[in-house]
Amino acid sequence: MKIYVPMDSAAKALGAEEVVCALRAAAPEAQIVRTGSRGMIWLEPLVEVEVAGVRHGFGPAEPSDVAGILDGSSAKALGPVENLDWMKRQTRLTFARVGVIDPLSLADYRAHGGLAGLRRALAMTGQEIVDEVKTSGLRGRGGAGFPTGIKWQTVHDADAPQKYIVCNADEGDSATFADRMLMEGDPFTLIEGMTIAGIGVGATKGYVYLRSEYPDAIAVMTRAVEVARAEGLLGPDVLGSGRAFDMEIRKGAGAYVCGEETSLLNSLEGKRGVVRAKPPLPALEGFLGRPTVVNNVISLATVPVIFEKGAQAYADFGLGRSRGTVTLQIAGNVARGGLFETAFGISLGEVVNELGGGTLSGRPVKAVQVGGPLGAYMPLSKFDTLLGYEEFDAAGGLIGHAGLTVFDDTTDMLGMARFAMEFCAVESCGKCTPCRIGAVRGVETIDRIAQGDADALPLLADLCETMKDGSLCALGGFTPFPVMSAVTHFPDDFARLKEAAE
Ligand SMILES: Cc1cc2nc3c(=O)[nH]c(=O)nc-3n(C[C@H](O)[C@H](O)[C@H](O)COP(=O)(O)O)c2cc1C
Ligand code: SF4
Repeated sequence: MKIYVPMDSAAKALGAEEVVCALRAAAPEAQIVRTGSRGMIWLEPLVEVEVAGVRHGFGPAEPSDVAGILDGSSAKALGPVENLDWMKRQTRLTFARVGVIDPLSLADYRAHGGLAGLRRALAMTGQEIVDEVKTSGLRGRGGAGFPTGIKWQTVHDADAPQKYIVCNADEGDSATFADRMLMEGDPFTLIEGMTIAGIGVGATKGYVYLRSEYPDAIAVMTRAVEVARAEGLLGPDVLGSGRAFDMEIRKGAGAYVCGEETSLLNSLEGKRGVVRAKPPLPALEGFLGRPTVVNNVISLATVPVIFEKGAQAYADFGLGRSRGTVTLQIAGNVARGGLFETAFGISLGEVVNELGGGTLSGRPVKAVQVGGPLGAYMPLSKFDTLLGYEEFDAAGGLIGHAGLTVFDDTTDMLGMARFAMEFCAVESCGKCTPCRIGAVRGVETIDRIAQGDADALPLLADLCETMKDGSLCALGGFTPFPVMSAVTHFPDDFARLKEAAE
């Protein structure tokens, strides 16, 4: 008997280890394979029992469910996992193997299409690799949506004795966990993507800057790099090609701003994590002053499937200038939270109401913050906005790293605006005045509004304009979006308090 149980940290937090202990005690002969998570967090721990090659799900499993799971009589039986609506509606390209394979088995990885992309890339020139990424239309999944192929071209064209690939695995945005799930569930995909990037631009060394709050991802990635090196995927002769690429895992120390690429590079160099002025671009003067590709985990982990299936096959998915798939992370006050990979073009309302099933509290949805702490609060009137970079921009929103936090009608949006400003004040690196001082003044101004000071509202709008225009990076520059979206879309929450004071 073959049983699959995730070792993903979300599944573990929900009791996967206890379920595994109970399974081992009840069925010592069974083969238990630890996997990543399928992304249906409300069903975790999700136990899958293989019958005639088909995996049947049971969840959310508890130790007391084990007897029923083993004899098939459990009331938590879900049927074949691939037939579940959540799974069937997805286009899983980047996450195709997550939840399916043993994350640390290179043999399992190969058996599920792994390394096909790298083998194809190894037969190409650097320029052909860069062109393939350009054709795919891939844009950075870390936040800014910058075209990955153009970034790679700059590094490819730079003339330098050493170049680097740096993977941004700081994943500091609220409601986001795609990077973590990918690294815990399919680490070789990231290693393969970084290797293709290295071969493409002429970099022989890579670093994964991984947040310290992800101990499981750090452990899995560290082990995966060792396995990859031992099996000749990394090292001086990648898969016998004569080309070199190797990488290391580096631990971050918990500052949100260290996810900003230049701050990250400072931190990686052992310096204080403050933002660097641009230019020079990291692509020209990045890690240790050398040309450096800085890409998000999902951007890099999507590269193998682009090379495996072909750039055009990837580009065939999507909407407008947003090609391929987006890995939505649905969280907050939501009935069904988790990771859902789909082609760009789905509407926000469909994600929240149909996939997420509305709020967990059962109350009406009030707002959704999309794109982490720097993203706007989207009201119901914006629920027909389609998931696409330009489409969200036109609606005053931001896709960012595609995290969605759902709020119900009990949420006080003035409190949320204050939280956004306070977050900026706490996390500011301090390099520029509009952010360092502005965010502190912003909190004070929102407190004045809460006390019924009507003059403070235009002052807040003015301050936000200054932060937008004058901040050096997007922490100070984008905090006005959640703040002003709360003011604009939920004026009652600001007026009610004023009336109460009168
Ligand atoms: C304050 C701040 C925090 C950021 N945090 C992250 C992060 O945690 N992960 C990430 O990939 N990008 C983050 N970014 C975006 C990076 O600066 C950069 O655009 C990204 O790593 C580039 O990779 P991509 O092109 O693949 O998206 C952040 C940006 C800012 C301004
Ligand atoms: S906007 Fe804030 S975080 Fe960014 S450089 Fe200025 S002070 Fe630092």
